[in-house]
Amino acid sequence: MTTPTMTSPSGASGEFAGVRVLVTGGTKGIGAAVAARFAGAGADVVVAARTPVDELPAGRFVAADVATAEGAAALAAEATRLLGGVDVLVNNAGSQTYLPGGALDAADDDWYRDLDTNLMSAVRLDRALLPGMIARDRGVIIHVTSGQARLPGPASLPYAAAKAATTVYSKGLANEVGKHGIRVNTVVPGLIETPAVTRRLDRITADSGLDAATARRQLIDRVGIPLCRPGLPADVAELVAFLASDRAAFLTGGQYVADGGSIPTV
Ligand SMILES: NC(=O)c1ccc[n+]([C@@H]2O[C@H](COP(=O)([O-])OP(=O)(O)OC[C@H]3O[C@@H](n4cnc5c(N)ncnc54)[C@H](OP(=O)(O)O)[C@@H]3O)[C@@H](O)[C@H]2O)c1
Repeated sequence: MTTPTMTSPSGASGEFAGVRVLVTGGTKGIGAAVAARFAGAGADVVVAARTPVDELPAGRFVAADVATAEGAAALAAEATRLLGGVDVLVNNAGSQTYLPGGALDAADDDWYRDLDTNLMSAVRLDRALLPGMIARDRGVIIHVTSGQARLPGPASLPYAAAKAATTVYSKGLANEVGKHGIRVNTVVPGLIETPAVTRRLDRITADSGLDAATARRQLIDRVGIPLCRPGLPADVAELVAFLASDRAAFLTGGQYVADGGSIPTV
């Protein structure tokens, strides 16, 4: 049995030359770093987000809200048209509803918003793009989840539950599509300095009256990071690139953390 190959050998420049990559939420934070990592290694990359950004060349960005069925369907069709097919799908777009009152304050709409953004976006895009991967007998899907899938935070239970559901979904999908040469894994970021974390710090400073530096230090201390710093988006991008490459040819159905040691193992 031959193994379908995706990339040129480890260390070669242009490792992802000719590989077609779609990154959701690819305009900021982790997604932007993932897109830059693939593009820097020769991949053809399309990114999607709701808000257009000026820096991206034409044909490299699709405006779409992946939290809706229509948005996900339109994105899958447009990315396929632009790239000719998608070999690597990085389901990175995600966000959390802040619920200071806890789970009892979460209305149905809060639950559905976080489930649509973090779980159903990936389910719908995978469903739309997997037939092409199956026809080619190769493909890689990455689901970006969160440490909250194992250890829910205090004000974001719908988000944590959606990420946990994505983890189980990812494992089951890997079981189903492995026979077609398609690998499916989750990447689990710890605290990573992105615009999402900046928004969280802004909220903490507004609520507590702390200055920004103190709020940042307290957040890092509260998370408890053995490497003593938050991650950089590039730290996560490197893991995504590894998992998408043929160096990870035997890895599927797994969860891989990029967390500086902060996330408990059980
Ligand atoms: N940063 C962390 O510490 C951390 C920790 C654990 C897990 N994560 C996960 O990592 C992923 C990326 O997080 P991040 O911190 O990089 O987030 P971020 O800085 O807020 O960036 C999110 C990206 O996703 C896009 N996006 C959000 N909602 C979208 C939607 N409905 N449709 C299309 N695009 C959408 C945003 O663009 P628009 O707003 O223009 O749409 C942006 O490009 C998320 O899944 C998050 O849950 C992050």
